[in-house]
Amino acid sequence: MTAAPQSAPRTVIETRGLTKRFQGLVSVNNVTFQIAEGETLGVIGPNGAGKTTLVNMISGTLTPSEGQVVFEGQVINDVPAFRRAHLGIARTFQVMKPFHGMTVLENVAVGALFGRGAERSMAAAKEKAREWLEFTGLGRRIDANAEALGGPDRKRLEFAKALSMQPRLLLLDEVMAGLNPVEVDEVVDLIKKIRGQGMALLVIEHVVKAIRSLSDRVMVLHHGEKIADGDPTRVLEDPRVIEAYLGKRRT
Ligand SMILES: Nc1ncnc2c1ncn2[C@@H]1O[C@H](COP(=O)(O)OP(=O)(O)O)[C@@H](O)[C@H]1O
Ligand SMILES: [Mg+2]
Repeated sequence: MTAAPQSAPRTVIETRGLTKRFQGLVSVNNVTFQIAEGETLGVIGPNGAGKTTLVNMISGTLTPSEGQVVFEGQVINDVPAFRRAHLGIARTFQVMKPFHGMTVLENVAVGALFGRGAERSMAAAKEKAREWLEFTGLGRRIDANAEALGGPDRKRLEFAKALSMQPRLLLLDEVMAGLNPVEVDEVVDLIKKIRGQGMALLVIEHVVKAIRSLSDRVMVLHHGEKIADGDPTRVLEDPRVIEAYLGKRRT
């Protein structure tokens, strides 16, 4: 028997001509991209470029005006958000919102109950939650009230919640916002650890240094349109990309 030819990594998420309009405004315009298993796509673009709107259409909180969201070969445009979570799509929010009145452990256990792994009992969910809290470096705070956590620990909580869902695709929307450089490095290290788990990752970030060190590919959105997609170094040095970021102030 000869060995089977090595197959290309499978595509986990794909969009085809994805478009979102709000009244007259086109927030996301005809965006097509893919992310393969184990691949990290960095997404950058100025404020208002449509990054969060794109994530919302993938996670299911917004319905596309046109185009398709394809997850593991299946068009999921009509699949509600909770079912997408169950299929294996998890996200973090730009504005962190822990469940009110619950401990850190309970917050993460909810993820384990409703994600792809769908633990059957609260005891099993808490066991999983404990493991992910150790993984994200929050093991020492499991009994704290989630709302009492400071900024960096809240981000760790968001990561643990998302990971406890055992996603195939993880969407990270500006998780480094508001962190100091040391904290940014800690989150970069955590994302590198997550990359080793084999899922597809979409990382939206303004910190270019972090994007450069994390991404296999970088996609740039500008006024809702994709203006670049490729090798991080090449994309970040593209004059059109620099122009989009610095605009008229560029000398
Ligand atoms: N629910 C909404 N209703 C109307 N306009 C929206 C809505 N959500 C986003 N937008 C608009 O869409 C554009 C893209 O926003 P967003 O996706 O949040 O950009 P980014 O995350 O890149 O900063 C912005 O002009 C924003 O005002
Ligand atoms: Mg945003």
